[in-house]
Amino acid sequence: MGLELKVRNLVKRFGTRELFHIEQLQVQEGQSLHLKGENGVGKTTLMKIMAGLEKPCSGDVSITPSHRRWWSDRLHPEVIYLHQTPYVFMSKVVDNVAYGLKLRKGNRHDINSKVQQALEWARLEHLAEQPAYSLSGGERQRLALARAWILAPRLLFLDEPTANLDRHSVSTVAELVRQLLEQGTTIMVSSHQSNSVTELCSRHLHLEHGTLHEIEPLIEVKRYAQH
Ligand SMILES: Nc1ncnc2c1ncn2[C@@H]1O[C@H](COP(=O)(O)OP(=O)(O)OP(=O)(O)O)[C@@H](O)[C@H]1O
Ligand SMILES: [Mg+2]
Repeated sequence: MGLELKVRNLVKRFGTRELFHIEQLQVQEGQSLHLKGENGVGKTTLMKIMAGLEKPCSGDVSITPSHRRWWSDRLHPEVIYLHQTPYVFMSKVVDNVAYGLKLRKGNRHDINSKVQQALEWARLEHLAEQPAYSLSGGERQRLALARAWILAPRLLFLDEPTANLDRHSVSTVAELVRQLLEQGTTIMVSSHQSNSVTELCSRHLHLEHGTLHEIEPLIEVKRYAQH
């Protein structure tokens, strides 16, 4: 059965300030979405709520199969949210990559071989034995992607995966995201600007003034035509 994300009447407030009210959003398995919006509009908050990491004030997020009506401690096993500022554990790169798989308790030989594949996939083999905290910003992003890839998520939230990266690093991240999409992973990527990662997305959502609008491709084409 295909994975489906449904959001209905989602409201988030901080104190008396209503951050957003999202009437509805539906995402089907295999789709790629760009969530754009100015700094502070609530992109991170929205993604964390959809990933089950934060609680809405009211409304409903469901991910089927494994229906989850409300936020709970039981996070969906096939949904991963990658933080805007990827954090690393105080250990070697290779151990950082292995961490999630070890929690799932598999055969040690299988884990080691999967970790090697993940390191190669993210072009981190040469850094495997280095302390993860010494990685550059671009390398950290690739480490975060490797940690996600190894767990084979069906739905992946990427929060500003290209912030502070140079053009070369952005295209490396774009290549990894392209491969995840080819594998059928559903991806939502937040970014306040367009780049080679967001260009991979077929749906574009704009969070603005507390509401979410879908930008129709036709409007984008018209916009380009005017320039
Ligand atoms: N726990 C909190 N308590 C109070 N206000 C909060 C809390 N978390 C977030 N906010 C506020 O909610 C707003 C949205 O924050 P959020 O991080 O979701 O925005 P964003 O769109 O991801 O911004 P950016 O593009 O800078 O990453 C901000 O004004 C932030 O200060
Ligand atoms: Mg953010």
